[in-house]
Amino acid sequence: MTVRIAPSILSADFAILGEQIAAVERGGADLIHLDVMDGHFVPNLTIGVPVVRSIRKVATVPLDVHLMIEEPDRYLESFVDAGASMISVHLEVLPHLHRTLQAIQELGAKAGVAINPSTPVGMLEEVAGMVDHVLVMSVNPGFGGQTFIPRSESKIQAVRALLNRQGNSAPIEVDGGVDMSNAAHLVGAGATILVAGTSIFGTGDPERAARELRQAADAKARV
Ligand code: DX5
Ligand code: ZN
Repeated sequence: MTVRIAPSILSADFAILGEQIAAVERGGADLIHLDVMDGHFVPNLTIGVPVVRSIRKVATVPLDVHLMIEEPDRYLESFVDAGASMISVHLEVLPHLHRTLQAIQELGAKAGVAINPSTPVGMLEEVAGMVDHVLVMSVNPGFGGQTFIPRSESKIQAVRALLNRQGNSAPIEVDGGVDMSNAAHLVGAGATILVAGTSIFGTGDPERAARELRQAADAKARV
């Protein structure tokens, strides 16, 4: 089993973003996680398409775009055109989730469903056979630096079981409060993409933090 590390730039220093991305790539980052927030679905504003386009020019790994916005369908093409390889949309805002996932795939990107801590796993049932990944929110979306919600671990197991039942080996991404203390547990539960913001960019040495997180995750993955 291969575990991927996806540093979230939400906690990076935006004045030196290129350098920060280069640092985590030296530390072994497999993806760069980009949190797009609209101030409606979540109570915060962050980055949009132009920033993704600029990051695409400096990053050497795929871009994993997490859309925390109310009407993602309006922007899918722009984000893929800007360089997104993976796009996660929130189930909670999409009455036509199947159509949205198909649209992402037709644009040539990986289509993922993100679920909030209060969203039941069963809501994924009808799309579990066609998703390219599932993003389990382990904090309420909107801000970096929040405390990991312990119940998320069993939720990851439940999502893994649901995907397996439908013959889908799609990876599970866990996002929020991920750090050295819980990385191994989360891999043990079935997460294979670890998103981490504060525990990487909140340290004085993002390169080292990324490397240590990957070591913690890999140790568990080899067991
Ligand atoms: C939260 C975002 C996360 C966030 C994680 O809404 O989706 O990607 O950056 O940050 P940490 O790792 O600090 O919880
Ligand atoms: Zn995120």
